[in-house]
Parts: sequence; C-alpha cells; structure tokens
Amino acid sequence: MKIAVVGTGYVGLVTGTCFAEVGIDVTCIDIDQRKIDNLRQGILPIYEPGLEEMVTRNVDAGRLHFSTDLGAAIKDCDVAFIAVGTPPGEDGSADLKYVLAVARGIGEHMNSYGVIVTKSTVPVGTAAKVRREIEQALEKRGAQVDFDVASNPEFLKEGAAIDDFLKPDRIVVGVASERAEDVMSRLYKPFLLNGHPIIFMDIPSAEMTKYAANSMLATKISFMNDIANLCEIMGADVNMVRRGIGSDARIGPKFIYPGIGYGGSCFPKDVKALIKTAQENGYQMQVLQAVESVNEGQKEVLFNKVKKHFGAELKGKKMAVWGLSFKPKTDDMREAPSLVIIEKLLAEGCTVSAYDPVAVTEAKHSLGDRITYAEDQMEALIDADALLIVTEWPEFRVPNFTVVSRLMKQKVIFDGRNIYDKQELEQAGFAYHCIGVRT
Ligand code: UGA
Repeated sequence: MKIAVVGTGYVGLVTGTCFAEVGIDVTCIDIDQRKIDNLRQGILPIYEPGLEEMVTRNVDAGRLHFSTDLGAAIKDCDVAFIAVGTPPGEDGSADLKYVLAVARGIGEHMNSYGVIVTKSTVPVGTAAKVRREIEQALEKRGAQVDFDVASNPEFLKEGAAIDDFLKPDRIVVGVASERAEDVMSRLYKPFLLNGHPIIFMDIPSAEMTKYAANSMLATKISFMNDIANLCEIMGADVNMVRRGIGSDARIGPKFIYPGIGYGGSCFPKDVKALIKTAQENGYQMQVLQAVESVNEGQKEVLFNKVKKHFGAELKGKKMAVWGLSFKPKTDDMREAPSLVIIEKLLAEGCTVSAYDPVAVTEAKHSLGDRITYAEDQMEALIDADALLIVTEWPEFRVPNFTVVSRLMKQKVIFDGRNIYDKQELEQAGFAYHCIGVRT
C-alpha cells in the first residue's frame, strides 16, 4: 500500500510517520520547500517526544519520503490524507481554503482509484465539499477517475501523539462505499492489535464525532473549574471532590483536573467552531457557550489570586513563572493561559522571569523581550516575590524547597495546576495558593 499525507503540520507529520513505522510507503507533502528540506534532514517544525527519532529511522529505511510535488505523490497512491490547517476565521468558523485547495490539486493529478480522506478537523459537510472540488477538477481535465472520500478524525494528544496513534482507543472512519471501507480496514489493521475497534459510520457522523469528543472533554474541564471555584468559596477541597466523583465509572478519573483553563490549538478552536456551526443552522449550543465563557474566566483566576495577595503593592514585584506552553511535553503556545497571565502581570507593572523546558522560542513570538527567560527553573526564582506554576512539567513536581526559599525574596507560591501539597508547603513557611482550595 502507498499513501500520501498532505500537510506536514502536527497531525500530518505524526500520521505519516506512524504509518511508515508499520511498513507502509508514505509520502508527506507540503508546499513549504524549507520545511520539506528540513524534514529530509530530520529537522522537525514541532516538538513531540519520540517523533524526531521515528522520522529519521523511517526516512533512512526508505519508507518515509518528503516532497513538495503533490502531483507525483497522488498519481500512484491508494489513500491520500488531507491534513492541512483549518484556522479559525474572525467569527470562529473553520476556514476551509487550504483543505479545498488540496482537494483541487488532487483532482488535477489523480489517475487511478484512491480514497481521499479528511484528517484535519473539519465541519460537518466538508467531505462532500472535497468530493465536489475533486469532481470539478477532474471534469476540467476531461478525466474520468473513480474515487471515494472518507472522514477519519484524529484523537491524538500533543505530547502523547505517537502512543495515541500507534495504540488508539478507537479509530473512527466515515465512509460512503464498501470499497472505501475495505481500503481503510486494511490500512488500519496494524494498529488494532490491542483489540480496540475501528468504528465505521456515515461521513457526517464521523465529522461530528471529532467535535463532540473535544467539546465533551472541554465541558468536563470547564465544569470542574466551576466546581473548583465554588469549592474555594464554600471551604471544600476540589482535590477530594475530584477523587470522590472520579471513582464513579460513569464519570471517570480522567480530564477532571481543575486548573487555569484549557488551551492549545484544539479545544478552544473546536468549541468555537461547533457553537458557530450550530448558530448558522439556527441552533444555540447553550452548554458549550457556558463552557467557553467559564474557560475565558478561568485563565484569569491565578492572576486574580496574585492581585488579591499583593493588593496595592503589586506594582514592581518580580514574578517567577514556571511553564509557558499550554500543557507539558509540547512547545505549543497557542491559546496558552500563560499568555493571559503574563500580560496581566506586565500591565500591573510587574517584572516576569520565566522558565520553560522547550517553549521559549515559541513564547518569544508573543512575549518578545518584555519578560526575561531563565536558563533553568531555579534561575527564574532569584529575588522573586512569588512563583507561579503555570504548566505542570514533570520536573517542577519535586523541587528542592530549601533552595527555592533561599533564592526567592518572598516565599509565595501560586500553583495553577495543583501539583504541590498545601500542608507540606505551609509547614515549610510558604504562602501557598492553589485552585479549588480555600486559602
Ligand atoms: C486534544 C484532545 O485531547 C485530543 O483527543 C484531540 O485529538 C486533540 O485535542 C485535537 O483535536 O487535535 P490536546 O489539545 O493536545 O488534545 O491536549 P489535551 O491533553 O487534551 O489538553 C487540552 C487542554 O486541557 C490543556 O490546556 C490541558 O491543560 C487542559 N486540561 C486537560 C485540564 O485543564 N484539565 C484536565 O483534566 C485535562
């Protein structure tokens, strides 16, 4: 089997590389020549644990190719994945111009049966638009080529993408023909050895499944953030409540950690897009609207605690920030709560010294030299009036608190991810503020 993956962003690169890993011949296509040149040398545009080694291994084995030539790759492939970006437009709806341009390109070059699969997160109805775009391009050439479209949404998490792809909980595929179902079954067979299912359905349902999954997860998080805020007011401890409800199998222990709001490229974008799709079709997604507004508020919760603690004295204080990326194990800064928090601190006249193991280059695009970037986590603490835990990187979990207190000017910690034990820190003389526990 031969496949093409168009778009070497996060999803495309992981998809192409993981298919190559199980022995399939994969060509990854991108219009950006520099990106392709870099990838051929094993230089990746993103940070994802384990991916660089896997790319290099498969390129060396001759199974993974990188090219800007869509035409050549499309000519003899069985399956083509469209994995280009769908950036949110001004109004929150997904912009399909890149997806449809790729579909056109495919129609201009394909000359034998293939399944064209949308992998990018796309609104319900996109696969039908892709089909029309390909048909029109074929007509223009006067070519008659049989093809199918399919929708195969991706559920991988940044930072755990390879594992999620190689050992998926489930694979969802929307198809409209038995032939396409057969091709997709054969393609995914190597990934189903753990007994988890491939679920075939109609195309609109597959497209909707992706939005429903991300929206449900975002709902769990905003719900728990609301509960955490109420716990603080009422004198309850959200860590206890979380364990109490998470042990009910109907609720489950995952994705009920309160914090400083969800970020990243997926939840904020997909929640907005689903609200927008519903509105365009005369329906109000009331729960999701609340999910979004709770999340906006939650990004300010940690800052509000800082402001409450320091009061009128906040101006001129030095704040140490540990973690910048929207979550650990990624350098992704899109919609990162750190940006909201840092902008607010700067607006109050604070200085900020931040440390992040991998996201500094990305962070500089937004924050530039308005803050300082420490070489390691301890350096960030020198003379700081407070430490803010913004991203729960594993290396922040058990710092040497004796060194921490020696370096800091004041022993104050604002923990936006609830990674420390309140009692332990208070015994060590710290003022400790976290989420969902009354100070
Ligand atoms: C998310 C989904 O989890 C993937 O299944 C999906 O494929 C992906 O979006 C996508 O649509 O491409 P991702 O954005 O990489 O993956 O990150 P998550 O691990 O889901 O975290 C999202 C946000 O929720 C982070 O800001 C994280 O800090 C926050 N979060 C997560 C919480 O605040 N509490 C939790 O309990 C869990």
